[in-house]
Amino acid sequence: MREINLTDAAAFHALSSHYAEAKNWQMRTLFSGQPDRFDRFSTEAAGLLLDYSKNRLNDTTMQLLFQLARERGLEQKRDAMFSGERINVTEHRSALHTALRMPRSATLVVDGQDVLPEVHAVLDHMQAFTERVRSGAWLGATGRAITDIVNIGIGGSDLGPAMACRALRPFTHPRLTMHFVSNVDGHDLDAVLSKVNPATTLFIIASKTFTTRETMMNAQSAREWFLSRHVAADLPKHFVAVSTNVEAVREFGIDPDNMFPFWDWVGGRYSIWSAIGLPLALAIGFDAFSEFLGGAHAMDQHFRTAPLERNMPVIMGMIGVWYRNFFGTTSLSIAPYHQDLNRFPAYLQQLEMESNGKRVAADGVTLSVQTCPVVWGDVGTNGQHAYFQLLHLGTDIIPVDFIAALKPMHDLSGHHTVLLANCFAQSEAFMRGKNTEEVRADLRAQHLSDKEIEALRPHKIFPGNRPSNTILMDELAPATLGALIALYEHKVFVQGAIWGINSFDQWGVELGKVLAKNIEPELTGTPRPDAHDSSTNALIARAKAALSE
Ligand code: F6P
Repeated sequence: MREINLTDAAAFHALSSHYAEAKNWQMRTLFSGQPDRFDRFSTEAAGLLLDYSKNRLNDTTMQLLFQLARERGLEQKRDAMFSGERINVTEHRSALHTALRMPRSATLVVDGQDVLPEVHAVLDHMQAFTERVRSGAWLGATGRAITDIVNIGIGGSDLGPAMACRALRPFTHPRLTMHFVSNVDGHDLDAVLSKVNPATTLFIIASKTFTTRETMMNAQSAREWFLSRHVAADLPKHFVAVSTNVEAVREFGIDPDNMFPFWDWVGGRYSIWSAIGLPLALAIGFDAFSEFLGGAHAMDQHFRTAPLERNMPVIMGMIGVWYRNFFGTTSLSIAPYHQDLNRFPAYLQQLEMESNGKRVAADGVTLSVQTCPVVWGDVGTNGQHAYFQLLHLGTDIIPVDFIAALKPMHDLSGHHTVLLANCFAQSEAFMRGKNTEEVRADLRAQHLSDKEIEALRPHKIFPGNRPSNTILMDELAPATLGALIALYEHKVFVQGAIWGINSFDQWGVELGKVLAKNIEPELTGTPRPDAHDSSTNALIARAKAALSE
């Protein structure tokens, strides 16, 4: 039976009426009227604290949002995902990234078969391999230990491992340097090959399909580079593969014994927990990688069992729906106040926008509501010196997710207190703003004339009432990073369930790939002007001329 339209849900109507008054609330007033507001609108799980009190909501808002979640069958949809139902309806697949981090004591029967033994068999293979490389037992062509790991992959086969290896940089083996090549632009691979020694470099060709154009081109070039310096017999010591496509891996020339498989029920943007996480396991060691999995599993258990009212992914997801579908916000800014999370916004861009950037419901009907906002961001405090002007004084309300660790992984004195002070100050500034009386008093205190004050005042008023979440962890470690990633995975699931979309396919990437295959031969061969518009033809002609100089 077709799911009713989101806008026909009783709770949606109630929220629309509620919004008519809520839109006028000032958070300053909400805080002054509720001294225990933080206690009421914060929750903890899996080593994370979510402070969602600096949002434009009250108890009634949250009750109505949870009512909407129940009306949309969120709990049933969640259970269907965890149990391996084929919820990815356009590809007839399960979405079982949660199975990848289940403990060895667990079982998960899907289509009559327990899927966990093969998950743990791959983990055993990863453990044996990573221990050989890290111990120095795995030797390269000239009998030396590996010093550099080059992961060649793109999208989910790059963003997750690259983000996690940076995030857990302090845990990296001292002999290993991690490199990530993703772009088909040769400058990416060239920059890495110019830095590494083939005799001590291990290449990981990471591709779920083992057909992605960028990855296969980079892999071929890396192999040619290696073979220009070493014999083919040494290739297996320097190339391994992570894929679901055994035949393509074998054709590439990688020994299937050096292949780490995963399954079609692991979405690319949900695959860091699988063998795609091999670079991370190499960098931090298998025990720490197991802690990473454990942190995600802890968040899974929280998501599965906590009542909606205390459920961190549900709260974050529903607040996002409140802003997107009632306030009409169009983007979400991610502000990690931790330099080692500098790739986290980019990671979330794929996780959120490739999952929920859709205009059609799972049953194929075009949606009448807005879905995933644009997700973007950068680390703090840098963002304060780049785009926070717009966040504070621009014409759009853009919710912000602040993320910080209370303890640093360095011993440089004073830095961390300045960082945390800025993080907390920014969310306070967004919330309270600075009104005209406060601005006037400030300018008078600077002894400006009345004329100068009146000229400057409008430019220095901060409207405030701009919402944010703050996520805190004790320190950025394998378990807390795992929990943080799983938190966002489940938040994305919650929003997809509310909007009624399939969060696990990605047909939007297909058209560009096909058109690129058409254009590529025209850049080196005969143009086909009848196949394109005047712009594309002109661009092809100009590139063709330049490339033939
Ligand atoms: O962007 C499309 C996509 O299929 C992603 O979903 C995926 O993570 C990426 O390309 C790479 O795919 P593969 O791992 O198969 O090379």
